[in-house]
Amino acid sequence: MDKLIIRGGAPLRGQVEVSGAKNAALPAMVASLLTEESIRLHRIPQLGDVRTIIGLLNHLGVSVEGRDREPISLRADRIDRFEAPYQLVKTMRASVLVLGPLLARFGRARVSLPGGCAIGTRPINLHLAALEKMGATVSLDAGYVEAKAPRLKGARITFDGQTVTGTENLMMAATLADGVTVLENAACEPEVTDLAALLNRMGARIEGAGTPTISIEGTSHLHGAEHEVIPDRVETGTFMVAAAITGGDVTINRCLPYHLEAVTEKLRETGVRVEETDCSIRVVGDGHVRGVNIRTHPYPGFATDMQAQMTALMSIAQGSSVITETVFENRFMHVNELLRMGADIKVVGTTAFVHGVPTLSGAPVMATDLRASASLVLAGLAAQGITTISRVYHLDRGYESIEQKLLGLGASIERVAE
Ligand code: EPU
Repeated sequence: MDKLIIRGGAPLRGQVEVSGAKNAALPAMVASLLTEESIRLHRIPQLGDVRTIIGLLNHLGVSVEGRDREPISLRADRIDRFEAPYQLVKTMRASVLVLGPLLARFGRARVSLPGGCAIGTRPINLHLAALEKMGATVSLDAGYVEAKAPRLKGARITFDGQTVTGTENLMMAATLADGVTVLENAACEPEVTDLAALLNRMGARIEGAGTPTISIEGTSHLHGAEHEVIPDRVETGTFMVAAAITGGDVTINRCLPYHLEAVTEKLRETGVRVEETDCSIRVVGDGHVRGVNIRTHPYPGFATDMQAQMTALMSIAQGSSVITETVFENRFMHVNELLRMGADIKVVGTTAFVHGVPTLSGAPVMATDLRASASLVLAGLAAQGITTISRVYHLDRGYESIEQKLLGLGASIERVAE
């Protein structure tokens, strides 16, 4: 297992290019299950989670070419298994995305229940209830969900809570269903819109993606397509906070600033300067930020995936801030580690009360989940002295070439084998 050693205190300066979005890449790759023709995808990042989904797709019989270079091609013309095993689903919940496509195209799927994860219980009841509404028979057996349906039928589905992968799963299932499906209270995240764009290129008829009402007219057959996934808005936001927390000057290129409006607004409220073009964001800090209150929400609200990074920033802000997590019930795992670096934070239920301290001090800390790890890297970059972060595999699940990118901005960061 690798660890990262960061010597903090240097303001980050320079330019960095953002990678393709993990959470758009995963469903795009899974969408290949909907056709026997080839799907070519550009800007798929090299990440732990991408390798996991390739492992799962290979297991099902999908051939994958170009996994180490651009573009990646996936072809599902020889599917001979219909099961996502526990070993894969437990390491990455997004594996449940295969449920809808397998069921829609082959009439059956068996997917391990994900169980708990570091950020909460994260059930898939909303995915299952919606598939049942489309005529699937769903049963539970030995920790697995078994779903069957000779042909899914279009239905009107109102989600009892917004779910990103639930919306994606159902949208994919509905493309091959008989008739029209309308998803109400659908997730509006840019990754959902990006998946709809790919599916429409494959011959699907989807309207309204990016709004709470998505309508999908089913068809009997989808075909091959080529698509470039959107830039990673969470990686972009993480570099924005890196500039702010170190009092640096960083320009993030090849991003989509309009996906980050809530983050940009909050950072401006802290006093840092944020300048945007159509495809780049420059963040200029002077080492001083004001405490601001944050409440996470589904898109276009402040993303839960940016909460941990902002908590790190608030830990050195002037004044206090109140950070409320409304999406996941247990997403403050980074706080205990930040306390070890000298932060002053109290968590009560799903709210963190942060009193800014003048400076953090480097310490050995442990990564607990993906975004928590990012917040520890940010804290380490700002801290006095050396921070050692262990269990870096969490970070490698979602940040491509993180230390190379930070080195390019002048950070002192090194990866060593534990
Ligand atoms: N929920 C249910 N039942 C369901 C589905 C969800 O109760 O059937 C609850 C969840 O427990 C949670 C809330 O609904 O409290 C929202 O969960 P959602 O389903 O939207 O999350 P997800 O689809 O599992 C995706 C991202 C996450 C991101 C969330 C929220 C992917 C692969 N994952 O997860 O990304 O935090 O949406 O925006 O797209 C990450 O990248 O670090 C990450 C965790």
